[in-house]
Amino acid sequence: MGKQITPKVTWVGKIDWELKTFHGDELSTHRGSSYNSYLIRDKKTALIDTAWIPYDKEFVAGLKQEVDLKQIDYVIMQHNECDHSGALVELMREIPDVPIYCTAKGEAIIRGHYHKDWNFVNVKTGDTLDLGDTTLTFVEAPMLHWPDTMFTYMSGENILFSNDGFGQHYASESLFNDMVDIDEVYYEAEKYYCNILNLYSPMALKKIKEILAMNLPLDMICPSHGIIWKNNPTQIVEKYLQWADAYQENQITLVYDTMWQSTRLMAQAIAKGIQKQDPQVRVKILNAAKDDKNDILTEIFRSKAFLMGSPTINNGYSYAVAGLLEMIKGLKFKNKKASAFGSYGWSGDAVKQISEKLQQAGITVVDGGIRELWVPDQEMLDKCVQYGQDFVKAIE
Ligand code: FEO
Repeated sequence: MGKQITPKVTWVGKIDWELKTFHGDELSTHRGSSYNSYLIRDKKTALIDTAWIPYDKEFVAGLKQEVDLKQIDYVIMQHNECDHSGALVELMREIPDVPIYCTAKGEAIIRGHYHKDWNFVNVKTGDTLDLGDTTLTFVEAPMLHWPDTMFTYMSGENILFSNDGFGQHYASESLFNDMVDIDEVYYEAEKYYCNILNLYSPMALKKIKEILAMNLPLDMICPSHGIIWKNNPTQIVEKYLQWADAYQENQITLVYDTMWQSTRLMAQAIAKGIQKQDPQVRVKILNAAKDDKNDILTEIFRSKAFLMGSPTINNGYSYAVAGLLEMIKGLKFKNKKASAFGSYGWSGDAVKQISEKLQQAGITVVDGGIRELWVPDQEMLDKCVQYGQDFVKAIE
């Protein structure tokens, strides 16, 4: 069943309470998600985005309860990853001639996914679609986060439909930001930004500034995942401006893997030294193998500096640390300082190799790190405390 947002706009999406991973296993979604689709009923009727493939029949059945599909004049596809375009085949089976408005890249992606010769209408920034009392204006937003992405502004109701932008993987029966646990929503929005959009921060900054310069009246931001920003909608825009601009808080994060607890003991001692040197800094310690990888990345995203620890294993570093280093490289964090640590038995290569990987990822590595042969005794733990203190001085 749909949910009324304004007299002319109805949410007709799908809430996915059981989604626990997204993009295969690339992104954890502890709080589920939603695939938001919006039905606009003016003199003309338009549908914005659909839902993920497993819910295609459910989506179309729900849409039929809301509207006679034959009354839909336009389908607007803002971005065609299958979590939004997945129900198109099921929908277009019933209304095959209805025009699909999307960018040229969007058409190519839909064709590449579904191999159908539907009635595509390509749109560019500034193109409009008159619905009667209201008008849709399209704004291309390439690489936020796919080449086909566009936003849609609805004048008259002053709504920005932003697809993945400003979204969160967050399942909620309540649709609006003032009706949910806002701390949870902000965490999920930040995790979403860090893990999906951070790589494209330069484009995000440019696009947001471009939209702000238009001085459009804005009553609501309707993303295609999670809750709608209705109460003070620009609050999430302001957050994005911070997140996209080499974001950091006064936090230092230690991430380690450990085989027989020696690297864990080092992490704890280094953390003690950091705290001793700077009692104001927030220090977090996470286990690379036990904590969630995307939550770890989110903690690194909000840190001014981090330390990555691994015992030496097979002349290298651990599997869990390797995965994180690869993801750190891909996400292109800016303005982060780091160092490496770990215990070893003979070759002791891990610290050097982690430092090299961090450097290759664009992270400023402040020194050669610290390593310990076998199990740290008190003297070595004291050295780790001192190292933590020195690390704080080195990043100042
Ligand atoms: Fe929500 Fe990029 O799809």
